[in-house]
Amino acid sequence: MPSLPVPEGLSRDGVALRRLRARDAGAFAQAFREDPELGIVIGAEEDPTENGVRRFIARQPGLRARGEFLGLAVTDETKRPFLGHVMLHTLAWRHKRAEVGYWLVPAARGHGVGGKAVSLLVDWAFEQLELERIEITTTPDNGAARALATSLGFVEEGVMIGRNLERGRRVDVMLLARLRK
Ligand SMILES: CC(C)(COP(=O)(O)OP(=O)(O)OC[C@H]1O[C@@H](n2cnc3c(N)ncnc32)[C@H](O)[C@@H]1OP(=O)(O)O)[C@@H](O)C(=O)NCCC(=O)NCCS
Repeated sequence: MPSLPVPEGLSRDGVALRRLRARDAGAFAQAFREDPELGIVIGAEEDPTENGVRRFIARQPGLRARGEFLGLAVTDETKRPFLGHVMLHTLAWRHKRAEVGYWLVPAARGHGVGGKAVSLLVDWAFEQLELERIEITTTPDNGAARALATSLGFVEEGVMIGRNLERGRRVDVMLLARLRK
């Protein structure tokens, strides 16, 4: 199983991706306090604490080395602020397939940052990891997540009924996918 490198120099129109740093933990956890829906829409079992985020960030090198997970901070051209998190996860190397996840801190939403950040990660993953299929899952009522995905060429393939058990309730999940061009 290949390891996952940290992409270098990914930026477009004032939006950049960089590795997560321990000092992102405060802003990362604060996003879940500012938007109590965030943990629910991303399917987290509970909202993360700042210490929990710090531990999560410390685990990143091991997860990358095992080829399991790549989490990156969304930032601007200064590379300083933490504006959100984009992830490559659920890698199935044999099938050249992975899933992308994304969320922004509330103040960064609605300005095109999400679309640029996700397209940077998707384009890099197709080119550098030679993936052939990238998937996105979301709940059918998440208009922003669906619009972002379809604006990047992801196709809505269908809804899996009651697929997940999240915070004690069964949740329908929409699957979107894009194939390598
Ligand atoms: C989903 C999210 C990352 C989108 O980021 P964003 O920067 O606000 O999105 P963008 O401004 O790049 O917009 C991308 C597309 O979505 C559309 N859009 C944005 N917000 C929308 C909304 N609330 N409803 C419908 N469409 C929306 C935009 O018009 C744009 O479409 P276009 O390219 O055809 O014009 C952000 O809203 C977020 O963090 N939401 C909470 C977490 C979440 O739901 N994550 C996904 C879980 S699966």
